Amino acid sequence: MAITLLTPTFWIPFLLMATTTHAAHQVSQLFQFTYGTSVENLLPLSNGCLLLSTIGSGSLYYINPEALYPSAQNVITLPGSTALTGMAALGNGLYAVSGGVQSSPSCFVEGSMQVYVVSVAADSADTKLVHGVSVPDTCMMDGMAALPKHPRTVLSADSIGGRILRIDTLNDCVSVAFSDAALGPGNNATALGIKGLRIRGDYLYFTNSAQGIFGRFPIDENGTNTGKVEILAHPGCRSDEGNSYDDFAFDDEGNVFVAVHPSSINKITPGGAESTFAGDESSETFLEPTSVVISNDKKSLYVSTGGKDTGFPISGGQVVKVQLK
Ligand SMILES: *[C@@H]1O[C@H](CO)[C@@H](O)[C@H](O)[C@H]1NC(C)=O
Ligand SMILES: *[C@@H]1O[C@H](CO)[C@@H](O)[C@H](O)[C@H]1NC(C)=O
Repeated sequence: MAITLLTPTFWIPFLLMATTTHAAHQVSQLFQFTYGTSVENLLPLSNGCLLLSTIGSGSLYYINPEALYPSAQNVITLPGSTALTGMAALGNGLYAVSGGVQSSPSCFVEGSMQVYVVSVAADSADTKLVHGVSVPDTCMMDGMAALPKHPRTVLSADSIGGRILRIDTLNDCVSVAFSDAALGPGNNATALGIKGLRIRGDYLYFTNSAQGIFGRFPIDENGTNTGKVEILAHPGCRSDEGNSYDDFAFDDEGNVFVAVHPSSINKITPGGAESTFAGDESSETFLEPTSVVISNDKKSLYVSTGGKDTGFPISGGQVVKVQLK
């Protein structure tokens, strides 16, 4: 059963103290789920509300981040999944969401994964499952992005296989756009490689968690790479050192805001300079940040988190707002 009624956590504004490395950005938790639900990804709708994909059930949530007391509502529970991962807008009110049956926190049962196409009426949050596309030969689909020239086709990050999967939701065709060692977990078999995936211009940008890489590949209109990987930043942010990159977002100037486990948001400039933007390695502000998006009005970042399953108190995933301007 999906959790449909959740206690809203009261809005707690708190200012981060200015440090020598970053200026103060107002940070506020908008909502926190109860333990057992992690937020994996968020996606802004045209009305400024957010869709949230969650781990713990196949439930998709909707939240108005500008409400006085924002509260996530379960809008649909997708059949055949115990966890949802990446999301992408397909146009015309349609969205793609990947999910499947988890076999461990970082792996899915092969054959259980699919891309769901859902329609969302933004003003009413009325959500319907249109159809599912089975993606048979993978154990992990993480970040997702639609191809700008073929918006009903999405690219999905296979973090274990080190591949970019291509799923055409118009004809249910699944193929491998490309594979590369820079996308895989490297020599750590228990870690995940590529996590976040965004398309900007003629490039596919990605984060690789296990290898601690932020990089890009030039791609064609169908998502196939037309050249080699270019590493844009690798600041020693590696899973074996307790920090690891997750999903990320670009602002209009080309700065990247990346979710970094266990508790910070880093900024990478177009020149590759990286700094802590919000939170820090020991902060409780962000409990395992998983993804970042920029609000439609460009004034804020919204961050999803996984929550905390060790220590006391344990807690569910959060949606946190960071003021940009
Ligand atoms: C491999 O990755 C896992 C998960 O991120 C991590 O806990 C572990 O420390 C890594 N092991 C090595 C040898 O890097
Ligand atoms: C992209 O795919 C379409 C449909 O298969 C094909 O017609 C087109 O030539 C492809 N473009 C490139 C650059 O390969």
